[in-house]
Amino acid sequence: MTQQSLAQSMPEAGDYGAVLFYSEFDDPKAWGDALKSNLPGLDFRVYPDVGNPDDIRHVLAWKAFPGFFEPFRNIAQVVNLGAGIDALVGRTDLPDVPISRLSDPGMIALMRSYVLFSVIRYARDIPAFEQAQRRHEWHYIHPRPLDTIKVGILGLGHLGSAVASGLADVGFDVSGWDVAPKSITGVRCFGLDQKQDFLGELEILVNMMPLTPATAGMINADLFSALPQGAKFVNASRGHVVDEPALIEALRSGQIGGATLDVFHVEPLPEDHPFWSMENVLITPHLASITVPEAAARDVAESIRRVSAGGEPLHRVDPRRGY
Ligand code: GLV
Repeated sequence: MTQQSLAQSMPEAGDYGAVLFYSEFDDPKAWGDALKSNLPGLDFRVYPDVGNPDDIRHVLAWKAFPGFFEPFRNIAQVVNLGAGIDALVGRTDLPDVPISRLSDPGMIALMRSYVLFSVIRYARDIPAFEQAQRRHEWHYIHPRPLDTIKVGILGLGHLGSAVASGLADVGFDVSGWDVAPKSITGVRCFGLDQKQDFLGELEILVNMMPLTPATAGMINADLFSALPQGAKFVNASRGHVVDEPALIEALRSGQIGGATLDVFHVEPLPEDHPFWSMENVLITPHLASITVPEAAARDVAESIRRVSAGGEPLHRVDPRRGY
């Protein structure tokens, strides 16, 4: 191919149209730099510096306010700047275009590390040692083999299955539940009608379900009472999948022996929330997994190329279904 015909076959950055970035959480500079290193010359705009709204072809958004999408008539795709797309469910301003989410190895590795930490902390009795240390007490608890500790993952999507495999690799006895049939090496997978069998023997339950109209409040008093008494609970997905008053009650009664919570109904967690003063609760401020722009931008750039050429983005989701 001659220099001239090669140049003709390569799309110009301008052919992609403008990209609009909206997030009060993510760093626009890091995202702009990461995207431009994949797509040199890209027209990258950061809200509210939109310019002509008709130029906008690709929107990268995290928790955009209601009505945000309305002014943009030429949107070709929306990329949700995170894994959970609950902020896009039930909106009336979403254009009828492909919607995708982020899924990158950095995000998966962070989630896996958070859940491994939380589960290992319980499996190795660390909360008891933390308390004993405050009493200046040498409190020996004989460690148990990990394969005798039953850990269950509720939700075996992209992140849930990575977490389940990670726990199985470490040596735990791992099972998982999902509405859709799943098969994961080293993980006993339960389906729709088998929730009771799944829950009945668990020592530690990890919630990895997406928040959708169907999952809101699904972890409730009935579910907690189906677990063995004193089971531990880890929530690394979304607060609203859990009935919070039921969790508080289960923690007070001892039905749930301890909880590690990264997500809540209201974030930041209000100062007077009962969780703050519960000895058996570990609170982290919604950071189990975050997006690493350098890792995620490669796939977003590829989606910009694909959609501009009339194709499908990577990691497409269905906002009606919620994942
Ligand atoms: C974080 O909560 C995400 O959904 O990416």
